[in-house]
Amino acid sequence: MEVIILATPADVCATAAAIVANCVRQKADAVLGLPTGETPKPFYAALIELKLDLRRVTTFNLDEYVGLSEDHPKSFHRYMRDHFLDRAEVGAAHLLDGLVADLALECARYEAAIAAAGGMDLVVLGLGTEGHIGFNEPTSSLSSRTRLKTLTRATLARAGIAAHETRHAITMGISTILGARRCLLIACGAAKAPAVAAMIEGPLTALVPASALQQHPRTTVVVDEAAAQALKRKDYYREVFAGKPAWQRQRDGT
Ligand code: F6R
Repeated sequence: MEVIILATPADVCATAAAIVANCVRQKADAVLGLPTGETPKPFYAALIELKLDLRRVTTFNLDEYVGLSEDHPKSFHRYMRDHFLDRAEVGAAHLLDGLVADLALECARYEAAIAAAGGMDLVVLGLGTEGHIGFNEPTSSLSSRTRLKTLTRATLARAGIAAHETRHAITMGISTILGARRCLLIACGAAKAPAVAAMIEGPLTALVPASALQQHPRTTVVVDEAAAQALKRKDYYREVFAGKPAWQRQRDGT
């Protein structure tokens, strides 16, 4: 796991956009996994600023709430239109449909679509305060595939969703995420510090779903100083990143 600690959320999002841009420049028909949430908003803005040619790119969002209409202000369909898809010409954008009657079938369809696209080249992830990636809440199976999850009260409250609106989401599973050829996780702010420390320096455990990224051969974690504050080995991560060979920086877009 590569850990990059930067000064501000703007730095984190600019670096994440540069990594995605590098991936697309290397592979014009790249397949990307994409997050929603507060953290990635400046990331999408930075990506749009780069004016990349995304016409052959395919995207798959990580998750969607069950039962929220596509126009609901909190739906991820709406979020993606507002923050990215209406402002960039993306080849094919896929989102899970949380309105269908047969959610299990929808999840299976999504898995098949990712496989048919050749798998994800790069998945961009945010991090929940309790360590979730996608909506894989604590105790999610590390072998999980796309499926329905019940969201914790903390997750719903953080997203500003009332329990009567929905308590469920469908989400790529942890195994689905780990199937991507590269993972990039971004986290900012002091509220994320305990989850960042547990993900990087804690044991591999389903109680901290993001710790599953320790198993992935190519994961980059980019955090700001506030989110990094509980890490014990900050100096070590800085030393390793400062010594990263130029050819690896070029390959990775870092
Ligand atoms: C959303 C998602 C979630 C968020 C996480 C952090 O698509 O997959 O895992 O990335 O809840 O959200 P923010 O950035 O709002 O703190």
